[in-house]
Amino acid sequence: MDYIKTDDGSFTLYDQSFQEHFHSLSGALEEALEKHVNAIGVIDGFRILDFCFGLGYNSIAATVNHNHLEIIGLEKNLEIVKLIRDLEVPTSIKPQFDPFRYIAEKLIITDLNNNTIKLIIGDALQTIDQLSADYFDRVFFDPFSPRKQPEMWSLEIFRKVNDKMKSNGRLSTYSCTKWIRDNMMKAGFTVFDGPAVGRKSPATIGVKTPKT
Ligand SMILES: C[S@@+](CC[C@H](N)C(=O)[O-])C[C@H]1O[C@@H](n2cnc3c(N)ncnc32)[C@H](O)[C@@H]1O
Repeated sequence: MDYIKTDDGSFTLYDQSFQEHFHSLSGALEEALEKHVNAIGVIDGFRILDFCFGLGYNSIAATVNHNHLEIIGLEKNLEIVKLIRDLEVPTSIKPQFDPFRYIAEKLIITDLNNNTIKLIIGDALQTIDQLSADYFDRVFFDPFSPRKQPEMWSLEIFRKVNDKMKSNGRLSTYSCTKWIRDNMMKAGFTVFDGPAVGRKSPATIGVKTPKT
């Protein structure tokens, strides 16, 4: 796995098997903050699902200025999570990253602000079934692209994710592909444009439509 420095000074990875970067080359940290955390908003005490945790940028960015977050990350490849230990990060995020550097060892860590990240290692298509219904306030949805991993963006998966979320809970994802938005709407989300950070097309925000 090769580290690549992105334009905001943070590092991403290039996955040879999928032939894809983990983040936009305009900025890995920028993407986490702008397309995910700030796009859907995080409040102290929220429960967050990080679907495809990777190097954990989205989760760890969420802990900035927040307390008592309960974050669950789903990730298939423990070897990726181990790379967090020595990941060089911009000084602005270092205080948040450092407590989580050894997360691959115990798979659960709580920082000094009582933010907890717990990881479930395995195929998210299956491990999602271990989670409680109506539980999460926010979801960061971050698989490889629909072209490379169409199975992660299916109607069935969006239905499962929607089921795990509270009413009016919000999901962020970087893709605005039409068939994905259609799947999200069929699964029970109202869909909005998210910010276009590092690319021309917008990201997508899904809000879980309350059942009537
Ligand atoms: C685009 S990267 C996510 C980047 C991540 N959010 C970060 O901040 O580094 C996709 C991640 O999904 C993981 N992944 C791929 N297929 C998966 C699956 N079926 N279940 C769980 N994780 C998977 C990959 O190992 C990789 O870490």
